[in-house]
Amino acid sequence: MKNYENLDIEIKDGVYWLTLNRPEARNALDASMLNEIDQAIDEAEQEENVKVIIIQGAGDKSFAAGADIKQLNARKPLEALVPGMQGLYNKIENCKKVTVAAVSGYALGGGCELALACDIRIAAKNAKFGLPELNLGIIPGAGGTQRLSRIIGKGRALDMILTGKIIDGEEAERIGLATYYTSEKELAAKAEAVAAEISKKGPVAIQLAKFAVHKGYDIDEGTAMWIEKLSQAVAFGTEDKKEGTSAFIEKRKATFKNR
Ligand code: HXC
Repeated sequence: MKNYENLDIEIKDGVYWLTLNRPEARNALDASMLNEIDQAIDEAEQEENVKVIIIQGAGDKSFAAGADIKQLNARKPLEALVPGMQGLYNKIENCKKVTVAAVSGYALGGGCELALACDIRIAAKNAKFGLPELNLGIIPGAGGTQRLSRIIGKGRALDMILTGKIIDGEEAERIGLATYYTSEKELAAKAEAVAAEISKKGPVAIQLAKFAVHKGYDIDEGTAMWIEKLSQAVAFGTEDKKEGTSAFIEKRKATFKNR
């Protein structure tokens, strides 16, 4: 495992815990931290025993307070066209491992968008989600305008983006922004429990299911149904499918092998 300056990494029970560790700046995502997250995602993808990546913020105040505003202040128009934060978050969405955001405290701007790029969001009671970019004269540019409206609907997304309002964990769960809502104390345990449930599944099926949902969501339903069918055809050809169905018939637990 690499040594990171702004991240803490721990691998435990098939889970890659990625902790954003810059609490003195509320885990604001500067260029160096983004670069390290990129490397960490590559690292997690290569770890064969890892099925789930849990992203969390160090300290209880903040998941991530967004892009580093000091760096943002100096950025020129064409610098917004590089893959940057949006590219990294697309990579996280397309990652073959399941990604879970465990959100305690502030998840603002690019921090909220990071959580939106994850497959599952678990919000603690003290979570504060918001896209306050318009206060800075910019717009959410790391997938926020697109992912938020796809997750909670266009009306609610426009309200959050245009007013910059901040919602707590309970509200986030109520409107579907967060998948689960829990106490701060239970947050890590809840993330662990979700990861444990996912980890019982075969890695190929996990990857194909993610692919079918994410890729199918953005296109017409007929083509998306074919994505589902073709993904299923791949699954049907795996040893894991033979094992999963045989295990059911033989009344035993499946042991998946990722092939
Ligand atoms: C740089 C930040 C920061 C940020 C906090 N800090 N957020 N530095 N970028 N996004 C720093 C502060 O400057 C301060 O540093 C220290 O962290 C503690 O912050 P405080 O404001 O004193 O803490 P608190 O009162 O607890 O308030 C926390 C907060 C507030 C509500 C999160 O800091 C805040 O509103 N931050 C900005 C949130 C935001 O607007 N995010 C969107 C960014 S734009 P010092 O040195 O003074 O101790 C974005 C665009 C993404 O994300 C898309 C781009 C493509």
